[in-house]
Amino acid sequence: MKTKITELFGIEHPIIQGGMHFVGFAEMAAAVSEAGGLGIITGLTQGNPENLAKEIKRCREMTKKPFGVNLTFLPSVTPPDYPGYIRAIVEGGIKVVETAGNNPQKWLPTLKDAGIKVIHKCTSVRHSLKAEQIGCDAVSVDGFECGGHPGEDDVPNFILLPRAAEELKIPFVASGGMADGRSLVAALSLGADGMNMGTRFMATKEAPIHERVKQALVAATELDTRLVMRPLRNTERVLKNAAVDRLLEKEKALGAAIKFEDILPEVAGVYPKIMRDGDMDAGAWSGGMVAGLINDVPTVKELIDRIMAEADSIIASRLTGFMKA
Ligand SMILES: Cc1cc2nc3c(=O)[nH]c(=O)nc-3n(C[C@H](O)[C@H](O)[C@H](O)COP(=O)(O)O)c2cc1C
Repeated sequence: MKTKITELFGIEHPIIQGGMHFVGFAEMAAAVSEAGGLGIITGLTQGNPENLAKEIKRCREMTKKPFGVNLTFLPSVTPPDYPGYIRAIVEGGIKVVETAGNNPQKWLPTLKDAGIKVIHKCTSVRHSLKAEQIGCDAVSVDGFECGGHPGEDDVPNFILLPRAAEELKIPFVASGGMADGRSLVAALSLGADGMNMGTRFMATKEAPIHERVKQALVAATELDTRLVMRPLRNTERVLKNAAVDRLLEKEKALGAAIKFEDILPEVAGVYPKIMRDGDMDAGAWSGGMVAGLINDVPTVKELIDRIMAEADSIIASRLTGFMKA
C-alpha cells in the first residue's frame, strides 16, 4: 500500500507504533520496523539522553529499517533535559521524531536542520492546524477512544478524522482505537494516510512488558477503561484496576480542590512496577477502548501482515462488491 505516510517515512506499510512509556524500548520499535511499519522508541522512558543514545544504537543493531523516537513535552516543575534528548536524536542519526504534549515549535529548527521529519500527536483540529502552521511534516490525530491522553475535547475519531481531513494540508494518521484491517480501511476512508496504534502493539509477543499486562488487555473489553485526572485537566484513559478505583474515589471526594500531590501514590513512578514487574494494581496505566478488539498475542509481524491482508480483502472484495451489486 502506498500513501503519503509510507512515502514520507520510507516505510512499507502505513502503520506507526506510537510512543509508549515503559513499552517503547528498542525491542518494540525494532519489531514494528522490521515488520514494515514505523517503530518508535519512547525517549523519556530512558531517563536521560545518554541512555537514549544507547537505546538508539541497540535498536539499530536489531533493524536496518527506519525507526523513530517519541519526545513528549509535559508540563513539569523540573523539565527533563530536552536539549540533551534532541542532541541524542540528531547524533543518533534518527530521521523521524514523534512529538506529543506541548507545542514542539522551539525544537523544530534543530530537528529540521538535521533532516528529521516531525509528526506531532494532536487531539484536536485546532492543534493539528497549529502543528501544520509551525512546520510539522505530518500529524497523528488522536481521538477520544485512545489510550493515554485524549485531551479535554472528547471528540471521537468518526468526527475528528474527517474534520482534520477538511482542514489539513499535511498528511495525517488516525490514532486511537485502531486495531486491525477494518480500522485501517476506515481511517483511509475518513481521510487519513495511515494509522497509529498504541494499546494493540502492547499485546504482541515482542512487546517488552510483563505477560500479565498482555493478558489483562486480552481479558479487557471496550467497557474496561476509565478517564482519570480530568479535574486536573490532564485527562488520561487507563485500564480499570484497584488503583484506578481508589484514584476516582479521591477525585469524587476532593472535587475541585484536588491537587496532583493527592494522587501521587496512584500515578507517580508506577509504570516500571506494572510493565516490568507485572504488579497489575500498582497504579494507573494507559490503555485504550480498543482493548475490546484485542483477543490474542501475535508476533508483531503476524499482526501487521494480518492487518494488511484484511485491509486488502476489505477493499478488493467487500467494498468493490458493493459497487457491482
Ligand atoms: C501504555 C501507554 C503509554 C503511552 N505513553 C505515551 C507517551 O509516553 N508519549 C506519547 O506521546 N504517547 C503515549 N501513549 C499514547 C500512544 O502513543 C498512542 O497515541 C495511543 O496509544 C493511541 O491509542 P490506542 O491505544 O487506542 O491505539 C501511550 C499509550 C499507552 C497505551
